Amino acid sequence: MKGVILAGGSGTRLHPMTRITNKHLLPVYDKPMIYYPIETLVLAGIQEIMVVTGGNHAGEFLRLLGDGGEFGLKQLSYSYQERPGGIAEALRLAENFVDGDRFAVMLGDNLLEETIAPYVENFERQERGARLLLKEMDDPAHLTHLGVPIMDNGRIRFIREKPSAPPSPYAVIGVYMYDAGVFDIVRSLQPSARGELEITDVNNAYIDRGAMEFDVISGFWGDAGESIDVYYQVIDFVRAHGVNKAPALAGR
Ligand code: DAU
Repeated sequence: MKGVILAGGSGTRLHPMTRITNKHLLPVYDKPMIYYPIETLVLAGIQEIMVVTGGNHAGEFLRLLGDGGEFGLKQLSYSYQERPGGIAEALRLAENFVDGDRFAVMLGDNLLEETIAPYVENFERQERGARLLLKEMDDPAHLTHLGVPIMDNGRIRFIREKPSAPPSPYAVIGVYMYDAGVFDIVRSLQPSARGELEITDVNNAYIDRGAMEFDVISGFWGDAGESIDVYYQVIDFVRAHGVNKAPALAGR
């Protein structure tokens, strides 16, 4: 299976730091942020990755990551998003790289305490469609910044993006697994009110077709790009506990 890491966007929530660099190059404890999602995918057995980035600092990714040999990758490819037109628009740039395979997508600002390897294996066993990862959150206010599923009889019925009244205690985290049909869905999307092609619309299209499965993860999950406070919470967690661990090692 291939992997795609989305590391474009404008990073406005971390201004002014992201005026002079790309968010995913900022430090998280002892490494640039982008290292963590690469390691997450590599530890799940993925050896071919594309990084999609954009903006004025895209060249720094090449200088930092090179051909990916440091991570044990067979292939590290890059693509460039001309303007931050949304997560689903960035995903479209990976179509030729994916070349009909199934693949895992990870947002470049997401970090997980535990490996995603068991969920990638679940997707490999899944006949078709897509797979999401959910994290149960204790703070409903936090969910208003995220994608939140409406659950019904153990299935996801619909996902609301940044709901003012969260319909469940679960966050849709930034790890998505798709079959190659995702690109036809992306082509059919219309921009949202904020002018972006939304990944939540892609996921709702799979849900409509009855082709969406999910796992609920345990362990810490953080979106380091959510706000400056969450950025520092993530750094504190990584420093104290580490990330991308096998589940048996993850308990704190
Ligand atoms: O982190 C999980 C959340 O990520 C989900 O719960 C939401 O459903 C999902 O929409 C997303 O929300 P965010 O508001 O956090 O998305 P953000 O705009 O911060 O973009 C996340 C990453 O996607 C970012 O690190 C870089 C990449 N991206 C984003 C945009 C808008 C791109 O590569 N290109 C883009 O145009």
